[in-house]
Amino acid sequence: MYLKKNSFKMILILFISLNFIFSSGFAEEINSNLPVKDPRSDGATLLKGSGVTNLFSIDMMLDSVKDGNSIGLLFDLGGINKTLGDREIDTSKIYGDIYTGPYPFEKDETEYAYKRFRSRSKIKKGKSYINISYLFMNVVNSEGWKDKGTIAVKFVMFMEKEGEDEYLGNYEARIDFRKDGKRFIKVPSIIEGPMINLVHSENPSEIVIAFKTSDPVNGEVFVPGVGLFRNKAISKSHEIKITGLDPDKEYRYRIRYGENMTGSYKFRTAPSDSAGQVIFAYTGDSRAGTTRDDAKLMGVNHLTMERLANLAYRMNSSLIIQGGDMINGYTSSKEDFSTQLHSWKNSISGFWRERPVYTCIGNHEALVNEYILKKRKRRENFGLDKWPYETESAEAVFAEELVHFRNGPEVSDKRRPTYSENVYSFRFGFVKFIVFNNNYWRGWMDFGGSPEGYIFDDQLNWIKNELEKGENNPAVKYIILFAQEPVFPNGGHVKDCMWYYGDNSVRGSQYHPESGKIVLEKKGIIEVRNELVRMIDNNKKVAAVLGSDEHAYHKILIDKTVPVGKPGEKENYSPLSDLKHSTWYIVSGGAGAPYYSEEPTPWNRFWKQNKNRPENNWAEKGAYYYSSQENIFIFDATRDRISMTVYNPYGEKIDFFPDLMISRKN
Ligand SMILES: [Fe+2]
Repeated sequence: MYLKKNSFKMILILFISLNFIFSSGFAEEINSNLPVKDPRSDGATLLKGSGVTNLFSIDMMLDSVKDGNSIGLLFDLGGINKTLGDREIDTSKIYGDIYTGPYPFEKDETEYAYKRFRSRSKIKKGKSYINISYLFMNVVNSEGWKDKGTIAVKFVMFMEKEGEDEYLGNYEARIDFRKDGKRFIKVPSIIEGPMINLVHSENPSEIVIAFKTSDPVNGEVFVPGVGLFRNKAISKSHEIKITGLDPDKEYRYRIRYGENMTGSYKFRTAPSDSAGQVIFAYTGDSRAGTTRDDAKLMGVNHLTMERLANLAYRMNSSLIIQGGDMINGYTSSKEDFSTQLHSWKNSISGFWRERPVYTCIGNHEALVNEYILKKRKRRENFGLDKWPYETESAEAVFAEELVHFRNGPEVSDKRRPTYSENVYSFRFGFVKFIVFNNNYWRGWMDFGGSPEGYIFDDQLNWIKNELEKGENNPAVKYIILFAQEPVFPNGGHVKDCMWYYGDNSVRGSQYHPESGKIVLEKKGIIEVRNELVRMIDNNKKVAAVLGSDEHAYHKILIDKTVPVGKPGEKENYSPLSDLKHSTWYIVSGGAGAPYYSEEPTPWNRFWKQNKNRPENNWAEKGAYYYSSQENIFIFDATRDRISMTVYNPYGEKIDFFPDLMISRKN
């Protein structure tokens, strides 16, 4: 009897757990070797399709454009019945507008490529014709088209619904066409780029030109006087290495893609070691803004990002570095994540077609499995970096979508995501850039991964090593470090970044399935921060440490007198009295994300109480300042000084540093 009773209970429990494992799809996704614990084993629920910004990927939009009639190309969403995020959709309920114009506008007379719309057509029942014939009329044929061209197309869409209709978003695409008799035909197009990449002084004889096409084609780059460079295979994604170049020289190039060829564009190779001047720009946080116009275009604020990139171009910046949060992110859809990065790349294509852009991972560059966990009274929503990490993680897709150096650290635990192309360094003339990642491996202490701001030892040691190499490299005069999370926040994210109000218990962790244990890192966030601050302080060549994340402009000077806090301190925070230098920690989160304002911190309170200190003369706005304006930094470095000017998008100066190295010269 006993057996009978208990064996029945045992069978029931077994049945329930097996039913749970197989019904929740938990089983097929359990990867026993993951360094994170699957939260569903703790009763969490996976929120499928969460956090999607774009209901349609750029590929879905492009596949919906087909050969048309004498008005233009056909746009037909009819083939779609599910959106990104797996939502059922009846596209016959979709209506809206399509705007079209030549791209680039007046291409033969402009250096800085930009879009301009001229014709309009209505979307009804998910269908329309993209009105190209209108652009052939004598009075508007700005490009002098005969039988073919490239257009920029904007789709603004709504969904009919009971009550208030739903706004489905604002999408854009670039499409090549030709006329077949009176009919308009779609032909393979460059949908993204071209982008000039990997321009650096360690090897100025090579660069990489990247672009994407709508269809698999042969991609070729012709550089007069140098040669013809082909992509290895017929593909939609092209990263073509150009070799045999001379340093500090301007070259022209054209791209052949399918039956079409671009206009003649230009790029300049990296300066040689005898360079006299290096001008570059920095900004961050270009994720979508507040309004429904181009401030919110497929997850990106095109209005501000394009304006700032153009300002940098006009001010002769040889490159742009961006502190992350290019996109909305926090999405569970890989296609949505890639579509958002596509949007960002095109928001600055006027600059990138000629000069390189380098960026890093921000907290919004998050591609996640999103969970909800009901714990006692609280419901917690949290996202874990998507796995398998090799193909689905934010780090993997970031590397796929962008072209960065692969000289970052090896991951000490091979189960974790890669640092390749999200942690790297390079030299441009006499300026060395160290790009680190304090938004790595998005996780949650209870399940494994990294909280925002945290840096694991394998990366910390790499940063230390890069600083030392820079110090000992005679070709390096200045070092710039940048990552997303401010080392010293001042408004918008004082609750996290590398501070968490001084709570040193915050740290990375790893799951060990063999023991079923979550192992916390030895160092807490404050220990990690102070170790980073000390290794930076120890280097004579660091001009500034840049951050983003806080949608504003702020800067703070940190030296041995400024209270920054030590592990365990809850108030009366103490300074790091062993610091030898003063270092500028400067934040630009001004590329279009919704603005923040100032919050009190131990360090900004300090400088407000020390306005008479001589260090306040080292920059126009003193040793500490905060502005909620959108902004971009223009650095102008020569062999005897490196100045920095902060501009708003209208070219108005917010702050000026005559020489960032004053703090190291005193
Ligand atoms: Fe951020």
